[in-house]
Amino acid sequence: MTPPLMLTTWSFGPVGADAAFPALAQGADALDAVVHAVTAIEDDPDIDSVGVGGLPDAGGRVSLDACVMTDPDRAGAVACLRRHPNPAAVARRVMERTIHVMLVGDDADDFADAQGFAPRELLTDDARRIWEKWRSDPGAIDRDKYKGWLPPRNVEELRGVDVSARRADLSREPHHDTVGVLALDTRGRLAGACSTSGMAFKSPGRVGDSPIIGQGLYVDQTAGAACATGTGELITGVSGSFLIVELMRRGAAPLDAIRETLERIAARFTLQEEHQTAFLALRPDGAWASAALRPGFKHTITTADGSLVQPPHLVLKP
Ligand code: GLY
Repeated sequence: MTPPLMLTTWSFGPVGADAAFPALAQGADALDAVVHAVTAIEDDPDIDSVGVGGLPDAGGRVSLDACVMTDPDRAGAVACLRRHPNPAAVARRVMERTIHVMLVGDDADDFADAQGFAPRELLTDDARRIWEKWRSDPGAIDRDKYKGWLPPRNVEELRGVDVSARRADLSREPHHDTVGVLALDTRGRLAGACSTSGMAFKSPGRVGDSPIIGQGLYVDQTAGAACATGTGELITGVSGSFLIVELMRRGAAPLDAIRETLERIAARFTLQEEHQTAFLALRPDGAWASAALRPGFKHTITTADGSLVQPPHLVLKP
């Protein structure tokens, strides 16, 4: 496909892509575009898996993870930010203003302060209400709506909760999981960004795949880019995004590279009903693909013709 183009995980993709694409079409850098897109999604309090409005950890506190990347020697990441709403932009500063790749926890928040990012309360009333509901009756959360996004059932079983108990419709549009954005700009440059509030009701301190270079995101101008969404523990176990880019480097088409990675996950994990994983892959020539482990995932493709929200090219376990 002819650049510029953007790929975004999930149906909330247009929230970010439609904000960022006009500048990309005018020649903006791919990195500017992906950070712009992710920031718009982080700032939307109705998206309950990224940025402000993200669902909190088991203790009721929101923590945010993100990374950005354009090449193996150009990457930045933050994990467990608790005071700042835009981890992807902070990750970019880590990349551009430090000699490091990743900062975590209080020190990452302090870095954001020092860089002039404004702190903000991350827990919204809606997110607090859902957390209170989960805390009082974990079985009441609609697991189908939050597939890939809740701790596996055995976490609750360990707490002695009857997970077959009643389910309640939370009457919200489920937006699921991590935003990953890949862009190819008019100069043929690739960039990616990945941002998440992590698995809902996770153990405090848990970090998933999203801010880890090679897991939630990997970009190499000479081979391609890939990003992930879904259950971070599965993606981490196979270094999913790195694996996809390396398979493309060895000649695999984007869809074949994702399929092989999903097959690796399916072969090496005891999959649970709640597990979901999806990947996007983009080659330097504009060829791209989207595939998921289970039904329910959608991606957004944005070109000069606008944004289209579509089902993936492949579902490994339909
Ligand atoms: N993919 C997001 C997470 O597992 O934290």
